[in-house]
Amino acid sequence: MNIPTVDLNDLSSSDPSRVAQGAEALRQAFGTFGLVYVQNHGVDAQALSRFYDAFGDFVARPVEQKRPYGRADLWYQRGWTPPNTEVAVAGNGQPDFKECYFAAPLPTDDLSPLEFPQLYPENLWPEDAPPYFKEGLLTMGRALHDAGLALLSAAAIALGLDKAAFTSLCERAPHVTRALQYLPLDASQVNTGILWGEEHTDFNLLTLLPGGRFLDPEGRPASQPDSKSGLYLRTRATPDEPNGRLVRGSAPPGCIVAQVGQQLEILTGGTFLATPHVITAPGVPGWQRQSAAHFMHVHTSSVLFPLPKLRTPAAIQSYAPPVLAGTYDIKTLVDIGLAPSSALDQLGYRHYDRLNRMRTDDASVATS
Ligand SMILES: [Fe+2]
Repeated sequence: MNIPTVDLNDLSSSDPSRVAQGAEALRQAFGTFGLVYVQNHGVDAQALSRFYDAFGDFVARPVEQKRPYGRADLWYQRGWTPPNTEVAVAGNGQPDFKECYFAAPLPTDDLSPLEFPQLYPENLWPEDAPPYFKEGLLTMGRALHDAGLALLSAAAIALGLDKAAFTSLCERAPHVTRALQYLPLDASQVNTGILWGEEHTDFNLLTLLPGGRFLDPEGRPASQPDSKSGLYLRTRATPDEPNGRLVRGSAPPGCIVAQVGQQLEILTGGTFLATPHVITAPGVPGWQRQSAAHFMHVHTSSVLFPLPKLRTPAAIQSYAPPVLAGTYDIKTLVDIGLAPSSALDQLGYRHYDRLNRMRTDDASVATS
């Protein structure tokens, strides 16, 4: 099973046959595997490892120093996500064994933060952040975002849609870049089925993964400790393999990974499937893994529903009812444990108390 690689230079070429070839590879990759390897992506490998050094310094700080940046009131959409906070929907509620840091690398519009305050908060930076922490995260996020825009344009061409079919839906959307550090297991925890990240599908449009690295028990960057630890993904179900197949998601040297999220699956009516993926922990204690992801989103004001050209009866049945992307985001953040369930109460009418108050006042007038 070969996961295709696309070259961003092909997609931006003035030669239509190179663009068509790249788009076809993307259609195969997103249609069968839900992900693609990308070369000539514009992410600087040296800058990435410099950022991982800075992020590692932050993670190594005492919890009391990190706690001010762990903001449940922002649904952890900016700043630090403490360990054992996020859960995978399909993972029986087992929290992931990781710490993360979220920032938005791109500006938004003025109205969206009023409509969805927890999806568009201001970035949050540690006052005494390690050198290159802020700049490294933002620079990486912007490079990944540009790569993602090129892929989304090619994906639209591959499906016979207008080139901007996807990119026009994600302008000034709540895109976020996240640094992740999967935490060391102790001797009693290894080989007990504890996962670094339970199997899940990403709920956004497209996820860009620049590649991670392991840290040995002394905290030094090192090659992988054993053959079982790392990213695995599940391929699309076929008659022969109704449960799909778990394949290792290690990109060829110099490539990054782009992964289909739920929003892209919905817009394409299931032509592209969100990739189930799992991060397995090593079978030896003391090792950590650092990685990063840029999550591209559909704008909160866009409706999530198969695009008209892909709106077959089966697609409608699979993805109805149409939902506002911002509403979808709120629902999912509740499902994965980052937003409180009370957030769902905001989705209906909230002003019944006004009539109750008026009726109460009215009754007191009538009896006086
Ligand atoms: Fe994921």
